[in-house]
Formats: sequence, structure tokens, C-alpha cells
Amino acid sequence: MHEAIGHRFHAILVDNGVLRLNEAEIVHETLTKGLGIDLTVIDASEEFLSKLKGVSDPEKKRKIIGNTFIEVFEREGDKLEKATEQSGAKIEFLLQGTLYPDVIESISFKGPSATIKTHHNVGGLLDDMKLKLIEPLRELFKDEVRALGRLMGIPADLVMRHPFPGPGLAIRILGEVTPEQIAIARAADNIFIQEIRAHGIYDRMSQAFAALLPVRAVGVMGDQRTYEQVIALRAVETTDFMTATWYEFEAKFLKVVSSRIINEVRGVNRVVYDVSTKPPATIEWE
Ligand code: XMP
Repeated sequence: MHEAIGHRFHAILVDNGVLRLNEAEIVHETLTKGLGIDLTVIDASEEFLSKLKGVSDPEKKRKIIGNTFIEVFEREGDKLEKATEQSGAKIEFLLQGTLYPDVIESISFKGPSATIKTHHNVGGLLDDMKLKLIEPLRELFKDEVRALGRLMGIPADLVMRHPFPGPGLAIRILGEVTPEQIAIARAADNIFIQEIRAHGIYDRMSQAFAALLPVRAVGVMGDQRTYEQVIALRAVETTDFMTATWYEFEAKFLKVVSSRIINEVRGVNRVVYDVSTKPPATIEWE
């Protein structure tokens, strides 16, 4: 879009408060330096987190996040229109990177297929939204999008970046999303990804992340009993994200990650590795 319509394209990254550690800064830097895109970061974290307060149901979380994204985009669109009033330019369209699996899994077709989960960018949209959608990738799978990216000369590390869902850590924190839970999930995820990169295996898997489970487990630290939370690590290999197998780490890698998380992340005393394929499990836990 940047190449097609130049300065009439406005790139906005909404910080919803459930991004990974330093994510807004990293995305800002890669898009600005990597692609020459003038990206505005909008910090809407308080707005998102106050709406998510007390909500545990995964589908409700997704809809709240999807709706709030649109509200923020519409508000920013109005601001941009005011700022460029003399030119008479209207902000009419919202460009989204929706992929085909988001559509298939969000929509219940006639017949046996049910809504698996409402992807925030499909079923989570506002019913009365003013912006019209442009979704150039809507009929493509991830591997096809990557082939297209390479063809367009987009840097390899951007093309091969693991996907990160719009609802972010909110669907990786099972149960209520609070600032304390975000801090734990963020720290654990950061250690996992850091080690994956340090071991040079990032490109061998399709997606990896840590989920924070809504249970407490008993542990022992020194001569004290602990009663703390559990982190589940998940890493998958897939081409289309419709089916996936779990990635076979070496045991010594898992030992390093587990001991780092337990030692460095306060509030966690147990780490488990998710060995479920999709189906029947989905990639995300919610
Ligand atoms: P699941 O959990 O459905 O995930 O097996 C398949 C892929 O989709 C991503 N995902 C989402 N992406 N909004 C997004 O932008 C969403 O609501 C959403 N839900 C899942 C997930 O990370 C995986 O790559």
C-alpha cells in the first residue's frame, strides 16, 4: 500500500497493552528502517486493559479487543482528517492483514464446521464500523504471503517473523488479564524466544510462545513451600497454520529455558511443554 499510494497511506500500530516485551519499539524500528514506512504508534493500553478487566472468557476477550481496535482506528482516522482538513482528504479504508485461515476459523459455514475461534480481525469487528476494509491477503495462506513478500523484496527477517495474534498476550494468559499476569507472561515469553534465537533455531519452527495457565502448583524453594503459577511453552511447525505438529526441541534446550524461567520470573514455579498437535488442539491456548 505504501508503494501504491505513498503519502496517502498512514501506518498505525495500536499498542493494546498486551504486546510482547519491547514489541512496539521493535516493530517501529523494523518498519521505519526496513521498509521506509512512517509508522505512528498509538498507546491505547489503558483503554484495552480497562475493558478487559474481569473478563475471562476467550471469545469475549477476542471481541472486546477486535472492537476496541476499530474504535481506535476510527478515532485516529478522524484526527488525521482534521489535521489535513484543507486537502479535503477522507480516511475511508482500513487495510488489514487478514489471512485465509482467520476467515475459515472465524466463520461458521452451513454444515458440520463450527466457529473455532473468532479471530479479532474477522468476527471481532464492530457491527456499525464506518471504515471500509481492504484485505489483499484474505485468500492467501501464510506460505503464499511469504512467497509474495520475498517477491516484493521485503527483508527476510520480516518475511520469516513468527506470527503474533492481534489479541496478543490476552489469549495467552488464560483467565483474567491483569498487569501482574501480563508481566509474568511477557517475561517468560521473552526468555523462551531469546533462547530460541540464541540457539539459532528460530527459523526451524513456525511459531513459538509461552502461555500462562490459570492454575497454581505446589513447589519447594530452599526449605519453603511455594504455591505458584505454571508456564506452558508451545512451539509448532506448520505451513498453513490449519494443521500443526509440535517442535521437537532437544531436552537440554528445554532444561535451559525451564530453569531460566523458574529462576528469573517471579510467580512461576513450574514449566511444561505442550505436545499437542493441531487438530485437536489449536495453536493458541484460547
Ligand atoms: P489457532 O490458535 O487458531 O491459530 O490454531 C492459528 C494462527 O492464527 C493466529 N491467531 C490469530 N491471529 N487474530 C490474529 O491476528 C486472532 O484473533 C488470532 N487467533 C489466532 C495464531 O497465533 C496462529 O498463528
